[in-house]
Amino acid sequence: MSSHANPAPDAITMEDWAGDMGERWLANLKGFEGTIAPVGEAFLAHSAFAPGERVLEIGFGGGASSIAIARAIAPGGVLLGIDISPDLVAATTRRLAAEGLTNARFLCADAAGVSVPDGPYERLCSRFGTMFFPEPVAAFANLRKALRPGGRIDLAVWAAPQDNPWMSAGVALTRRHIDLPSPPPHAPGPFAFGDPDYLRAILTEAGFGAISFTRVEGQLSVGGAGSTPETALAFTSQALATGRILLDYPEAIQQAVAADVLDLYARHHRPGEGVMMDYAAWLVTARA
Ligand SMILES: C[S@@+](CC[C@H](N)C(=O)[O-])C[C@H]1O[C@@H](n2cnc3c(N)ncnc32)[C@H](O)[C@@H]1O
Repeated sequence: MSSHANPAPDAITMEDWAGDMGERWLANLKGFEGTIAPVGEAFLAHSAFAPGERVLEIGFGGGASSIAIARAIAPGGVLLGIDISPDLVAATTRRLAAEGLTNARFLCADAAGVSVPDGPYERLCSRFGTMFFPEPVAAFANLRKALRPGGRIDLAVWAAPQDNPWMSAGVALTRRHIDLPSPPPHAPGPFAFGDPDYLRAILTEAGFGAISFTRVEGQLSVGGAGSTPETALAFTSQALATGRILLDYPEAIQQAVAADVLDLYARHHRPGEGVMMDYAAWLVTARA
């Protein structure tokens, strides 16, 4: 392992979605949306949106799920999306307009404290957009105020890191070369809600009931369908936090990590399908 001091010890836990991380999500949107597509389909099927529903979507990113929801709730339904990244709000507003969807609008705000306009809503949903709240109980209690009594919330969140080698195996390989501190348990970040008991306690304290967890697992293609070891490496090194951290290390270390990760991806490559690795997520449903 290198003796090089870690330049950003909290970089993995403190993702700056209003700034750098939002920009990075947009710059790598095709890769991100392609990678998580299998979970997205399971999430939308589980959520079963219906025509006429009034829906609040939190942390919509580049808007792939927003497009599907806006179509599912037409005619008569309306979608309000709230995201903290100005770049993603602007891009998604343009994307839905280009799709000819007029029943959705998008607001740039921190969902943890925003006063949600035009409520109450019947549904609240988020695909991987709620794991970043520094104070999750207060954030969910705030969002609950926007729902009518009995309104339904649907969340997709990643299960534990060890059940998601598509993200965690590359981090483990990186740790062979640099000192990368592990985030404290439940720290805001992709795996904050990997423990269902923890998320159940948060939602209960925030006032939600009838909480249920459905596990979805399988394989996804790192970097999107048809990825190769090279394109998967290009995607993860540009898009994920570890790639950014590595940029502050000497070239030789960057190359050694890249060689290990490329070897990992080569072992998981199925020609025509992509770099296929295991994932697991929770689909969480509750009532306000
Ligand atoms: C992992 S991305 C998921 C994007 C999208 N839902 C998808 O699945 O493609 C997380 C999203 O949550 C947003 N986000 C993070 N913290 C937020 C907050 N406090 N309020 C609103 N949006 C937030 C980010 O800007 C980003 O768009």
